[in-house]
Amino acid sequence: MIARVAATYEGTIAREIFGAQEIATSIGRLADEIVRDYRNMPLTLIGVLKGALFVTADLARAIAALPDGPSELSIDYICVSSYGNASRSSGEVRLLKDATEPVAGHNVLLVEDIIDNGLTLEYLRALLGERNPATLRSCVLFDKPFRRLVQVPVEYVGLQVPDEFVVGYGLDYQELFRNLPYLAQLQPEVFTNG
Ligand code: PRP
Repeated sequence: MIARVAATYEGTIAREIFGAQEIATSIGRLADEIVRDYRNMPLTLIGVLKGALFVTADLARAIAALPDGPSELSIDYICVSSYGNASRSSGEVRLLKDATEPVAGHNVLLVEDIIDNGLTLEYLRALLGERNPATLRSCVLFDKPFRRLVQVPVEYVGLQVPDEFVVGYGLDYQELFRNLPYLAQLQPEVFTNG
C-alpha cells in the first residue's frame, strides 16, 4: 500500500519502493557501521546537494544517537548536478557550490542519496582527494548498480534499488517529489505530461 501522498502528488505515484521506516532502519545500520569505524575520531560529513539533503541530516542525527561515536561531527554540503531537469545523466558533472569547511587533514565522508552511473561520486572523490583529506570515504543510501560507467569505491551502502527512475527522500523529477518521505516509482503519465 502506498503511504499517504500530499494532494499535489495525488495520482502520480505508481508504487512505493522503500517506506520511511525501511529507510530509517537502513540509515540506522549505516550509522552503526560509521560509528564503529570513526570511534573517537573527528568526522566531517559532506552531503551532496540537492539529493542528499535529507539523508545527510538523518544520518548525522542517527550517528549522534549512538554511544562511542566520532569525537566531533561537522556537517557541510557541496552542490553538483549532472542530470539537470532530465531523467538521464548528461554525463557531465558540474560543481554548483563548493564545500565551505576545510578538507585538508580531516576525515571526510561524502554522503550521497544515490549512485547510478558513478560519475558524480568519481568526480567528487577526485575533487576532494586533491585537497589532502586525512581519509576520504563515501556513504550512499540508494545503490542502483545496473548502469555503472565507472567503478568508484563506496564504503557504506544502504539499499539496492531496482533499475527504474525513482523519486522521493531527496530524489526529484523536475525538482518535484524530493519531499516525499519514501522512495517511489512514478506513473508513466508523469513523464509524458511533464
Ligand atoms: C543525482 C544524485 C547523485 C547523482 C548520482 O544528482 O543526487 O548526486 O545524481 O548519479 P550518477 O551516479 O549517475 O552520477 P543530480 O545530478 O540529479 O542532482 P540533484 O542531487 O540536485 O538532484
